[in-house]
Amino acid sequence: MEDEVVEFSLRPRYLAEYIGQTQAKENLKIYIEAAKMRSEALDHVLLYGPPGLGKTTLSNIIANELGVNIRTTSGPAIERPGDLAAILTNLQQGDVLFIDEIHRLHRTVEEVLYPAMEDFALDIIIGKGPSARSVRLDLPPFTLIGATTRAGLLSAPLRDRFGVISRLEFYTVDELSYIVSRTCDILQVQIIGDASREIGMRSRGTPRIANRLLKRVRDFAQVKGDGIITVELARAALKHIQVDDLGLDEVDHKMLRAIITSFRGGPVGLDTIAATIGEESQTIEDVYEPYLLQIGFLQRTPRGRMVTNQAYTHLGLPIPEQG
Ligand code: ADE
Repeated sequence: MEDEVVEFSLRPRYLAEYIGQTQAKENLKIYIEAAKMRSEALDHVLLYGPPGLGKTTLSNIIANELGVNIRTTSGPAIERPGDLAAILTNLQQGDVLFIDEIHRLHRTVEEVLYPAMEDFALDIIIGKGPSARSVRLDLPPFTLIGATTRAGLLSAPLRDRFGVISRLEFYTVDELSYIVSRTCDILQVQIIGDASREIGMRSRGTPRIANRLLKRVRDFAQVKGDGIITVELARAALKHIQVDDLGLDEVDHKMLRAIITSFRGGPVGLDTIAATIGEESQTIEDVYEPYLLQIGFLQRTPRGRMVTNQAYTHLGLPIPEQG
């Protein structure tokens, strides 16, 4: 709970405080300003990309910049069409409705969303059997912000109804170092030398991971040191929590080693890898694989995943002979 409260206060509230995602940020700034000039609701926005890159944060910022309320929910939380109808009819003009994991909406709920997004209308059925009829209710214009780890998981009719589709990218080490320093300021933690860069380097391009590692390093600094985070202390702490110098953790190592030792480096199918290491395929695909692909340790081929020579080198394993 304590972690959650801190987590929330660490989040930037306005675009000017938000580090990184330059492309998405610059474009959104224009769309927000234009919508405000026209006194209209911002067009619906789809944010996609790996977890922890700031989709929820950005959604809250968009609402703040627009000066409207935000209602937050998630795909699986909306069980029935009536649940969505209740949310929609409670929105005020221009409000943001944020649906996280929007690819997990039930089909029946998704169908209620189409006219709501397109015409700001809610079609409800009154009565049963032959006397049943459909009544159309007007909704206030609103902005739907949908977030998903992969846009490809969305049905085409839903995807087509978003006017703005924005992909969030992994952050650079510079950006992550800056985020770590910013968090230290907020938490009033002393961090010196290149320690914020050391943490940034090992955060897999992901602010959520950067802040999580920072909090664990802070624990070590407090208990094992004098509370000040130095490069040496950060390195030692990260070694204890088994995060290597590229930010790879136990699961990454297990996965790469499994492909190498059990499948001669691949290609091997995702489900086979998942079964071998005892993780969900979806978790591997959404959480682990994107970064391994990004740093060139893994390749996706039509016949499955393959480990690259770079990964062998990183793990200190001999690169196998060709053929
Ligand atoms: N904290 C987490 N993500 C951030 C970001 N993108 N900018 C600033 N602070 C952050």
